[in-house]
Amino acid sequence: MAWQGLMEEYKEFLPITEKTPKLSLHEGNTPLIKLDNLSKELGIELYGKVEGANPTGSFKDRGMVFAVAKAMEEGSKCVICASTGNTSAAAAAYAARAGIKSVVVIPKGKVALGKLAQACMYGAKIIEIDGNFDDALQIVRKVSETTPVALVNSVNPYRLEGQKTAAFEIVDALGSSPDILCIPVGNAGNISAYWKGFKEYNKVKQSGLPKMYGFEAEGSAAIVQGTPIANPETIATAIRIGNPASWSLAEAARDESGGIIDSVTDEEILHAYQLIASREGLFVEPGSAASLAGVIKSVKNGKIPVGSKVVTIFTGNGLKDPDTAMQVSTVDLVSLKNDEEEIRRYIEGVL
Ligand code: F0G
Repeated sequence: MAWQGLMEEYKEFLPITEKTPKLSLHEGNTPLIKLDNLSKELGIELYGKVEGANPTGSFKDRGMVFAVAKAMEEGSKCVICASTGNTSAAAAAYAARAGIKSVVVIPKGKVALGKLAQACMYGAKIIEIDGNFDDALQIVRKVSETTPVALVNSVNPYRLEGQKTAAFEIVDALGSSPDILCIPVGNAGNISAYWKGFKEYNKVKQSGLPKMYGFEAEGSAAIVQGTPIANPETIATAIRIGNPASWSLAEAARDESGGIIDSVTDEEILHAYQLIASREGLFVEPGSAASLAGVIKSVKNGKIPVGSKVVTIFTGNGLKDPDTAMQVSTVDLVSLKNDEEEIRRYIEGVL
């Protein structure tokens, strides 16, 4: 049978009722790819979970399909969210599919171009503010208390329910839990969702539990520093967040699993961003590369022992942020005449 989307495939693990609408864009079932070249270089068994293969190009689809279905079930005609970009794309897409409205509030000038294009095309009402994600989230939380709109940020528990299914897929693909799960941390919902998923599957299938390793960007590393950051900065705009909403859940995932939450610099993020594309043929967005940067850092400082089985989560597709790709690319386009001989000579020179 062809894949039917998360709510159908994992219904026994989700709080679905007869009244929950059957919403889907066939999200989930994303590839878990053994990273052969990097495994060899790092001396570990490394896999990448390619969440950019979801319908809107990020892991947000897993949580959003369920959050929007539940909003419909409860009679909502409009969903609202704050976003660094991917949540807004997913909310707008699933709202379009469901035939309801979406309103998204985003930090002006800090959302990658592809994500903005998605929200426009799916038909969201887009509000940009002179403020960051944390400001936007505070506003939509307040507005949703007094206005008939359903809040679909990850503070909505159905988001984490949907997102936990990625942990199920990893266990199903590997046959058991990996030793270590590495993941970027922004608002801290996803690390919390994965941990919930691993624990629930372990109860039913005795599949084991990974150590949870979360990585924040250094300029936005509130959990690492132990205090909110008023003006978070990082090249990885997806995780440019200074006061994560699921802070305590993320710390619980870290502590219960015996893991870590660490930070990586923009330089380390950009190095990993280029490495994963050039060595493994995977184009992920900078925020996603934070987890690979964390893997590299942790192998170097011994927090990931040699030989470990490690899964790193590539949360979003590289096509979402073409501007950063072109800025970091050192490749010059070669402009030649429309002439076979001239082109042949050039190619022979390259070989
Ligand atoms: N990676 C990507 C590509 C993201 O878009 C996000 C969050 C994260 C990682 C971090 O996940 O917040 O659950 O810790 N993006 C949100 C958004 C904030 O609005 O799209 P988290």
